[in-house]
Amino acid sequence: MTSEMPHIVIAVDGPAAAGKGTLSRRLSEHYGLRHLDTGLTYRATAKALLDRGLPLDDEDLAAEIARGLDLSGLDRSVLSAHDIGEAASRVAVMPKVRRALVEAQREFAGIEPGAVLDGRDIGTVVCPDALIKFYVTASPEVRARRRHDEIVGNGGEADLASILSDIEKRDARDTGRADSPLRPAPDAHLLDTTEMGIEAAFEAARHLVDAALER
Ligand code: DC
Repeated sequence: MTSEMPHIVIAVDGPAAAGKGTLSRRLSEHYGLRHLDTGLTYRATAKALLDRGLPLDDEDLAAEIARGLDLSGLDRSVLSAHDIGEAASRVAVMPKVRRALVEAQREFAGIEPGAVLDGRDIGTVVCPDALIKFYVTASPEVRARRRHDEIVGNGGEADLASILSDIEKRDARDTGRADSPLRPAPDAHLLDTTEMGIEAAFEAARHLVDAALER
């Protein structure tokens, strides 16, 4: 790499619990880029509605909240709660909410020296001109197992069957919605972490990013 770094945007998409968060963090640390988990922006919008006792199905209201969101104040430990994820997937179907959040996400991606963004529509909608795109996936069973082990590892209680059923429902909602459904961009590199694990996925991704930077 030369001393003059180009503006780098790395897009990472995929379903829930596929490992895209870990992969994105590793890539952002490695390349010295900022990282945005765009799921947190949908979660923060939903939480603001829940906190104020406002309905989750009023699109204009949700969009107004989304427009006022401060991306620097996203707290993963609070926003990762299960009920917030459920509410987030309901506001994420609303085109006006998506428009507001996509605009904020693009602004984040535009700041030097670039960023890693992960979500569902980064390669397809938010940053279609990203330097490189990844689509990270794994079987629903493996994703449910990882989520289960993570909760138990943090001292919580978890039921594998209900986590699997939630993941399947979330997948159906994310891939089935009309606006910006979850799908791989045609030029995305597919990383299936079912067998290879996240460390191997990071190594594979790093080689692909290095090759893209050489070009
Ligand atoms: O990845 P997550 O579980 O934090 O995402 C929460 C919800 O937000 C999920 O239902 C998908 C949605 N989402 C989206 O529609 N587009 C994104 N870029 C990121 C998340």
